[in-house]
Amino acid sequence: MDEKIISLKNEITEKVSAAQTTAELDAIRVEYLGKKGSITALLKGMKDLSPEEKKTFGAKVNELKEFATQQIDDRAKALKEQEIAKELASMPIFDITTPANLDRGSYHPITLVQRQCETIFKSMGFAVIDYPEVVTDYECFEALNIPKHHPARDMQDTYYLSNGQLLKSHTSAAQNAILKKYGKNLIENGVPIKAIFPGRCFRNEATDACHENTFFQMEGVMVDKDISISNLIYFMKTMLSEVFRKDIKVRLRPGFFPFVEPGFELDISCLICGGEGCPSCKQSGWLELCPCGMIHPNVLREGGIDPEEYTGFAFGLGLTRLAMMKYGVKDIRDLNSGRLKVLEQFTDDE
Ligand code: PHE
Repeated sequence: MDEKIISLKNEITEKVSAAQTTAELDAIRVEYLGKKGSITALLKGMKDLSPEEKKTFGAKVNELKEFATQQIDDRAKALKEQEIAKELASMPIFDITTPANLDRGSYHPITLVQRQCETIFKSMGFAVIDYPEVVTDYECFEALNIPKHHPARDMQDTYYLSNGQLLKSHTSAAQNAILKKYGKNLIENGVPIKAIFPGRCFRNEATDACHENTFFQMEGVMVDKDISISNLIYFMKTMLSEVFRKDIKVRLRPGFFPFVEPGFELDISCLICGGEGCPSCKQSGWLELCPCGMIHPNVLREGGIDPEEYTGFAFGLGLTRLAMMKYGVKDIRDLNSGRLKVLEQFTDDE
């Protein structure tokens, strides 16, 4: 009888470890532990034994029963894990639990024009540079020929941090760092400085349909030998014609900014009336879009560049303004409102 138990034990161990599927294991369970199973049969056969034998043999059979159950359960667990892993591996890589028909969202109109401008300037060899929103007084004003108490600071009152730093009031705040960084390559290797730097700007402004305390600009600079106003006009005209997908006429009017000399306001021919005169352009046929000018010698010098040898232009394109014109947004406050109904309508493909 003992041999029977030992051989059953071996048999079960062998069969269980050879089983490859949970279905095979189920069959083994029935074969040994089912109503007509071998172990059940052993228990049934005990009725002819003496009470003494029943006690010792019964204990052994029960032990075998427990052993078989444990073996089968352990193997079942391992196989189940294997099967799940296999099923997962064969699944498609997308997440099938993602709900269908998701709204894809849309880009903000300012992001759209910013990207367009970046693409256009990149194609003309300009580097696109990111710059912090928190800057020093030196970066925002001093280095740009705007000393303390200069009246030009009034128009650029902004938000000050307790450590004396401030939220930049214009993207020009990056000029000095860019001149210093790329000026080396200009002086040593003759590589012109060509960079644009889009960014968010802040001013202490009472808001209305045309004014916001938070808005976007895109600054651009080019410095080399013999750079003149005609280079400035060429790049601006090319960029604007690309953005609006039609030939845009530009004109320069004198404008004052301490960091350019001469300084200009660049106007574009009115997009609505084509220059004839209409309410949108106050009958003038022109729209004011981009202050610009030739970089002031003091600013070049502060950036480590000799103004006797090099000249350059700078412009401060109002990206928010540009987005409003391109997409016909009448109230600037809509752009910062987060109202998706307004913001979702704009796309890049025309
Ligand atoms: N930084 C100026 C402003 O925000 C614009 C400007 C940039 C003017 C570059 C000239 C040259 O008002």
